[in-house]
Amino acid sequence: MPLARRLLALALVALPLAAAEADPKRIAFPDGYEKTWLPYAVHNRPDNGQVRHLFANPVAVDAAKEGKPMPHGAILMMEVYKAKTDAANQPVAGSDGLWEKGDVVFYGVMQTGPGWGEEHPTEIRNGDWNYATFGPGRTHNPQMVEKPCLECHKALPEAQYVFSWDELVSKVKGVPRIDAEPVRVGLAGDVDRGKTLFQRCTNCHTTDTAVRAKVGPGLFGVAGRQVASAQGFAYSASLKSLAAQPWSDERLERWLAGPRVMATDTKMVFPGFTKAQDRADVIAYLKTLK
Ligand code: HEC
Ligand code: HEC
Repeated sequence: MPLARRLLALALVALPLAAAEADPKRIAFPDGYEKTWLPYAVHNRPDNGQVRHLFANPVAVDAAKEGKPMPHGAILMMEVYKAKTDAANQPVAGSDGLWEKGDVVFYGVMQTGPGWGEEHPTEIRNGDWNYATFGPGRTHNPQMVEKPCLECHKALPEAQYVFSWDELVSKVKGVPRIDAEPVRVGLAGDVDRGKTLFQRCTNCHTTDTAVRAKVGPGLFGVAGRQVASAQGFAYSASLKSLAAQPWSDERLERWLAGPRVMATDTKMVFPGFTKAQDRADVIAYLKTLK
């Protein structure tokens, strides 16, 4: 084969690989977002000692208010800081339990645009979202690889690929009321499907044996554990009032059908699963955490 044709053939083989990466420069750093965007959530991350502040631009806020899918032009910003630490190297928390900010580690941005998802293979495409990271100096991180961002966020199609979707919606219009199917204890659950659905819980809950708190208490061993019993977690008064009882299947079902129905002042920002099967699947997964 002549050299030119061989090169062409090579380029064609290389193309699908390169296609997993959108143009990293497509997302510009959103200068001035601190002044005009909605700060809608803060997450302590005990797994890596970070504290993360989340912001939504007006396009995203308007869509969340109207309960519409995120239109093109929606942008979400995640500021990632090292938590400030004390002499014993423990994070310093304010009166609200949120950690104080130390140095910026990086900025993560997700943005949608017309046709922006087209270069991503279907298995990892997140609608028209693209992802970018910026260093502390607010310039593009040239080493960033977009594929892991797409793969992880891909788990949340019902939440528009946004982990903090429920927090954004509840910030702009209160925790939505859902019309949940009645509790059906004893419905067989699918652990694998439950694990996928549980992605919606991972921004707030850890599952490892250390039972570390994030926004919510660690969930290792939660099935059968006494309600509101994770060491050192500041539970809401209404969940604490149920603390004499264990998390039975029935209680977990009621919780996942509507946390706010079961504990009126709960701090868990999650509307609930409408479908009894979704709840059964998540409970089956929770039972494996032991
Ligand atoms: C291992 C899974 C995982 C990967 C990989 C990942 N994220 Fe996320 N992302 C999360 C979780 C969980 C949150 C919720 C915020 C938190 O608690 O840290 C989040 C939140 C975000 C948010 C705020 C909006 C939202 O979805 O809640 C942005 C923006 C974001 N990530 C950008 C990125 C970028 C850019 C990359 C790739 C460099 C990336 N993420 C890779 C799990 C992941
Ligand atoms: C936005 C953060 C957030 C999300 C998302 C979230 N939780 Fe929670 N969760 C909390 C908080 C905060 C509490 C403590 C509630 C209280 O004190 O009223 C909690 C409590 C719980 C408890 C009771 C634990 C105990 O120790 O008694 C269970 C079980 C639970 N969550 C399961 C889930 C599952 C399953 C999901 C996903 C479907 C989920 N949570 C999503 C924040 C969250």
